[in-house]
Amino acid sequence: MPEGIDPNRVPRHVACVMDGNGRWAQQRNLKRTEGHAAGEDALFDTVEGALELGLDYFTVYAFSTENWKRPPDEVRYLMGFNEGILKRHRDDLHAKGVRIQFIGRRDWRVPRRLLRRIDEATEQTRHNTRMVFTVAFNYGGRAEIIDAVRALVAEGATGDKITEKSLRRHLYDPHMPDPDLVVRTSGEFRISNFLLWEQAYSELVFTDVLWPDFRRQHLFDAVREFQSRERRFGGVQEPS
Ligand code: IPE
Ligand code: IPE
Ligand code: MG
Repeated sequence: MPEGIDPNRVPRHVACVMDGNGRWAQQRNLKRTEGHAAGEDALFDTVEGALELGLDYFTVYAFSTENWKRPPDEVRYLMGFNEGILKRHRDDLHAKGVRIQFIGRRDWRVPRRLLRRIDEATEQTRHNTRMVFTVAFNYGGRAEIIDAVRALVAEGATGDKITEKSLRRHLYDPHMPDPDLVVRTSGEFRISNFLLWEQAYSELVFTDVLWPDFRRQHLFDAVREFQSRERRFGGVQEPS
């Protein structure tokens, strides 16, 4: 266990908004897409850190339902990039006992080849139990809630049959525990439509580090910060 982290209070689920690739590239007079490319090492070093910590769930925001607004070249790049990432890393993740899954909308805009890769990686790793690595792709928190409500309506639920519990059953992964800790890089203080339902009581940690510079050490820093917080969930702290 990394120094200064209490093994008994490690968060079960950490989620990460990988932001700042464009600015990282801009600072170096590179194209925005080169910033995304540089994010690959950051991502897999952080996954290693998540395994070292023994997290049950590690989730990353890779493409939002709003990211379609970006220039077509960048969108196309990101589609191919995510496909490449799966090709390059899925065997290694599988060997390490990681279960890979995706959350988000599978709509017509997502290229078929990428969907096929997503399905292959999900299938290959489905029985792994060490850690669930979730990639939020074409993901929007509002879209997820709407999709859950639509599913409830489709099964005929009305009025007080709609509860927090029944809605949760229709989230993209009903078994995923809410993130205990959400980390956002690049100095932006916002949620940007990430895991809206699930973040209701998450601890939020913001760092100025741009995503391509992020490494497991920064994840450990965030977990140390998390462990210094007092979570109350609306209650009061028991005097100790
Ligand atoms: C995050 O980096 C990656 C995605 C949203 C796909 P950005 O591309 O948003 O980088 P900045 O925010 O422009 O620096
Ligand atoms: C959030 O970052 C989405 C991902 C990291 C995939 P954005 O860069 O899209 O968010 P905004 O536009 O700054 O809010
Ligand atoms: Mg951004």
